Amino acid sequence: QAQSIADNIRLNQIGFYPAATKVAVVVGENNGGKFYLKTADGSKTVFTGQLTQSKPNEFSKKPTRIADFSGFNKPGTYVLEIPGVGKSYTFSIKPEVHKAVADAGLKAFYYQRMSIDLPEKYAGKWHRKAGHPDSKAIVHPSAASDKRPTGTVIYSTRGWLDAGDYNKYIVNSGITTGTLLAAYEDFPAYFKTQKLNIPESNNQVPDVLDEALWNLRWMLTMQDPNDGGVYHKLTNPAFDGMVMPDKSDKPRYVVQKGTGAALNFAAVMAQASRVYKNYNKDFPGLADSMLTAATRAWEWAQKNPKVIYDQETNNNQFEPKITTGAYGDREFSDEFIWAASELYASTKQDKYYTAVNLFPDTNMPLPSWNQVRLLGYYTLARHQNSLTPVAKKDLPELKKRLVTFADELIAGANERTYRTVMGKTEKDYIWGSSSVAANQGIALINAYKLTNDKKYLEGAISNLDYLLGRNAVGFSFLTGFGKKSTMNPHHRPSVADGIKEPIPGLLSGGTNARANVQDKCAGYPSNASADEMYIDHDCSYASNEIAINWNAPFVYLASGIEALQNK
Ligand code: G3I
Repeated sequence: QAQSIADNIRLNQIGFYPAATKVAVVVGENNGGKFYLKTADGSKTVFTGQLTQSKPNEFSKKPTRIADFSGFNKPGTYVLEIPGVGKSYTFSIKPEVHKAVADAGLKAFYYQRMSIDLPEKYAGKWHRKAGHPDSKAIVHPSAASDKRPTGTVIYSTRGWLDAGDYNKYIVNSGITTGTLLAAYEDFPAYFKTQKLNIPESNNQVPDVLDEALWNLRWMLTMQDPNDGGVYHKLTNPAFDGMVMPDKSDKPRYVVQKGTGAALNFAAVMAQASRVYKNYNKDFPGLADSMLTAATRAWEWAQKNPKVIYDQETNNNQFEPKITTGAYGDREFSDEFIWAASELYASTKQDKYYTAVNLFPDTNMPLPSWNQVRLLGYYTLARHQNSLTPVAKKDLPELKKRLVTFADELIAGANERTYRTVMGKTEKDYIWGSSSVAANQGIALINAYKLTNDKKYLEGAISNLDYLLGRNAVGFSFLTGFGKKSTMNPHHRPSVADGIKEPIPGLLSGGTNARANVQDKCAGYPSNASADEMYIDHDCSYASNEIAINWNAPFVYLASGIEALQNK
């Protein structure tokens, strides 16, 4: 007799590689019992196993049982059946099982493109008109200089919309574009064969680099050619309503230059100059211009090492007041490390390396928009075979830190409630926690590349499993993938386009312990623990927005795992 799908069975709703660890988690009290792996039509049992009890985590205290069917590895489409619970979503066991999600995560950047029509040919039913030409961005009084006084009009077209809103922020563009370029640098063979059906797919350049260039070209316009400083953001004064891009036509401003913007820009332009150098034929002069731009931004930051973007202070002094995303980092030692590492890796000039203290303390802060130290470490590790002596002497320490950090991440993951690296403490469940899971995965892939030890790769896969459904809310946080996936992201085009399905390949920010107090939307579960505070509602910008700096580590994680699956 057919049973309905049991939401209590949590698993990667897409599936598993034949040789990988395969785990599903059953929520709810009960001891032991058997589970059955069956063909998708339920007609044949292919594997029978015993459920084991897991240790409830200290914050949710919810008991779970684990179904481990790693011993079964025959490709096909299956369901799990658990007597008294029901049957799971249908999933696959096959090679390249995450290729579609990796592709979609990157294609999502195409859907985020500003200043261009998205025709049906590439965008399918989500085709739409261009918005935000940004050909006449206005210099805000906070950004005024002698050569570019208030009201000067600058050309600042292209770029990706940051998130669910329509503004463009240099700080967040930095880590996003840097992460995509890092994915390419780490897995070039994988990306060289990828075709995403974007307008540039027929050129000789990998799609990931064509896509990244859409944003890099915008970033270049954000540098003031007169002094090398970089504007913090290009923005409406206030967030738009839930309208399509072409209906959002308020004046847009470039606001104050800052150290964070200059260094993010310097880092990513330096990195890009080295990556696009190999495509000089396709983009003559581009790599050189990028390196010049990076150098000038770096020099500006040397002269202006502590210029914070403080939105509140600005609003006390200038009109119009700006109330969009602040990305107001106040501490730049990590941005200096990242920019220095990229400039050094691209030029091999020791002066960049020695300009910063690479190890100011023993911390290994997980990357996020306001914390980019490890991006510098990853880059130095990636270029370990071409370092000059001054950097080479630090290499053992650098590697030790990266591997020790990975060891700390995976410690205890196999005893955790959902058997994921994600969720060691409730501190993992912040605004944009999906990017915590993805960035932990990147750290683990880096450790895997350094050691060749499979346990790190398995840890990374456990977090991909988390993102695609093996979590306390049972959602696949990637739009368009999984039977129970995010359907109502806080994302203006997805809300305003009148199409039921959200634009695919977008990663919801996911569970956020403080979401209910931060966005005050109705519908959060009462008495929810940190790992349960999520609603699939477009009101919920604190738990269900999407953002480019969350999609980029997802792309790295899923693509990296795909590239490494058979190694
Ligand atoms: O840094 C403090 C930390 O010291 C403290 O312990 C912790 C306690 O909660 O808070 C930390 O600050 C948090 C900060 O992010 C840094 O992580 C704030 O609480 C939290 O509210 C803040 O959230 C940011 C949010 O904007 C609000 O500013 C998100 O990281 C950031 O991703 C998000 O970005 C927005 C853009 O502004 C606009 N576009 C959409 C985008 C995504 O929502």
